[in-house]
Amino acid sequence: MDKILEIKNLTTGFYIENNFYNVLNKINLEFEKGKIHALAGESGCGKSAFVNTILKLLPKNAKITSGEILFQEQNLLDIKEKDFNKIRGTKIFLIPQDPFMSLDPLYKIENQLMEINSIKDKNKEEAKKIITNALEEVKIQNIDNVLKSYPHELSGGMKQRVIIAMALISNAELILADEPTTALDVSVSNSILDLLVELKNKNKTILLITHDLSIVYNYCDTATIMYLGDIVEKATSKELFKNPKHPYTKALLAALPTKKGKKLENIKGQISPITQVISGCKFHPRCQYTQEICVKNVPLLEKCNSREVACWLVK
Ligand SMILES: Nc1ncnc2c1ncn2[C@@H]1O[C@H](COP(=O)(O)OP(=O)(O)OP(=O)(O)O)[C@@H](O)[C@H]1O
Ligand SMILES: [Mg+2]
Repeated sequence: MDKILEIKNLTTGFYIENNFYNVLNKINLEFEKGKIHALAGESGCGKSAFVNTILKLLPKNAKITSGEILFQEQNLLDIKEKDFNKIRGTKIFLIPQDPFMSLDPLYKIENQLMEINSIKDKNKEEAKKIITNALEEVKIQNIDNVLKSYPHELSGGMKQRVIIAMALISNAELILADEPTTALDVSVSNSILDLLVELKNKNKTILLITHDLSIVYNYCDTATIMYLGDIVEKATSKELFKNPKHPYTKALLAALPTKKGKKLENIKGQISPITQVISGCKFHPRCQYTQEICVKNVPLLEKCNSREVACWLVK
């Protein structure tokens, strides 16, 4: 496997009122180059904490307490902040849910694109050509108008197209997309996800964060399911849908609307805040199969045929 990113034993937490609570627990994951990898789970399970740990964009009350983040075999946690700026936005690129995290409201799109590291030292004509090509690739038609616009003058879908064009101009190898389409309506969302598939076809690697399993099914090669900072199941997305093993994965799938309009089965209860201590398997209070061992002991993520599952009932 040609790995681009390897996460080893990664733990991150937040200080809340002088106590420290883990938001990610000893995460181990490997990401193969040239694929779309999904990280999925309900709101509050730690998806953004994971992305922001990789990019070192964590808030002040956060701390990474263990682990390694190997990107192209270099541990990102060993890199000083001033050197990290050479990686963030260049080799590793973030597509956020809110485009204003990446676009400056005070500058026209053209000025912002011209400032991208990979082209800012090129002559104007050459830079403009690269920009135009990138905007064409993301299927923007009225390029001149878009270049002259301020971000607020563009629709949400158009802003995300511009950000994907930025990723192209930057020649980013790894793209972290944190719910990039949640704010968009379905048809615009699909066209943005289609662009991510085009990036993948150019051998880019995409980590797609979503709470929507239908996106995982339609667009992603692998799927990692997270619950309260733990990986509970990891498989190819085909396998995950064909034969989900973890009760949480099963519950997420049962909550998906079907084409036939089958009634949704909501997952019992709610995800807890990270300040709540839960013994054993963190999903046990919501799991319909809970047994004594699930309440007492933490299940480890273990190989189960061609996937990994952390559940006492799946062996
Ligand atoms: N700065 C912070 N201080 C304390 N707790 C935080 C902080 N940021 C996030 N959390 C908590 O960490 C947990 C995980 O949050 P995170 O934003 O990673 O979830 P998420 O899976 O991305 O959810 P969503 O789908 O809503 O974006 C939540 O319980 C959240 O309340
Ligand atoms: Mg989030």
